[in-house]
Amino acid sequence: MSQGELDAARAHLPAEVTLLNERAQALSIEAGTISCVVSHMALMLMENIEQVLGEVRRVLRPQGQLAAVVGRTFLLGAVNEVYLSMLRPILKEDAAPLPFGDRRTRTEAGWTELLELGFEHVQFEDVDVKWSPLPDELWGALTGTYDVDRLSLPARELLKARLFDAIAPLQQSDGRIATGWGLRLVHARAA
Ligand SMILES: C[S@@+](CC[C@H](N)C(=O)[O-])C[C@H]1O[C@@H](n2cnc3c(N)ncnc32)[C@H](O)[C@@H]1O
Repeated sequence: MSQGELDAARAHLPAEVTLLNERAQALSIEAGTISCVVSHMALMLMENIEQVLGEVRRVLRPQGQLAAVVGRTFLLGAVNEVYLSMLRPILKEDAAPLPFGDRRTRTEAGWTELLELGFEHVQFEDVDVKWSPLPDELWGALTGTYDVDRLSLPARELLKARLFDAIAPLQQSDGRIATGWGLRLVHARAA
């Protein structure tokens, strides 16, 4: 639904690929015409996920596949809890709560419940994208993630200072931190 992202995609894709600017809750695609629906880091952000999955099921052919990568743990390793425990109090002080997405998209049990209607052979795979950044590289990536991007400049600076202090004991001899992104692949077939 983001024209900016669709423009970026258009620049890379062959002309015969059709791009649609529309919400996943209401697709213009004809029922039963799609073999495979793939989604990367998007379903866990969407409101009314039951309607979204209803649309996915509607457009898929019987036995058509859904393969979706969604968030699992956020950062891998010890740095995750350290980071979240620094972020939470600063976020509470600095930015209004902005809940989005359906909690059920965060767990396997939640997905099993969501896919009960209309899907079968539900499978999960943990996908760990390992990465060993220097603190500045980690910070650069975090500033592009939800919630840090909403913080005021002073709140960001405070978070950065506290985070760098807290992760110092986690740095390896080369200064890097063993972490990465903890993702989940959800795979199911249309019943
Ligand atoms: C974190 S970005 C991921 C983008 C891309 N798949 C990637 O991995 O780089 C989430 C995407 O979900 C899209 N999105 C969020 N809610 C949506 C909805 N209800 N319908 C369609 N797209 C939606 C946003 O426009 C954004 O492009």
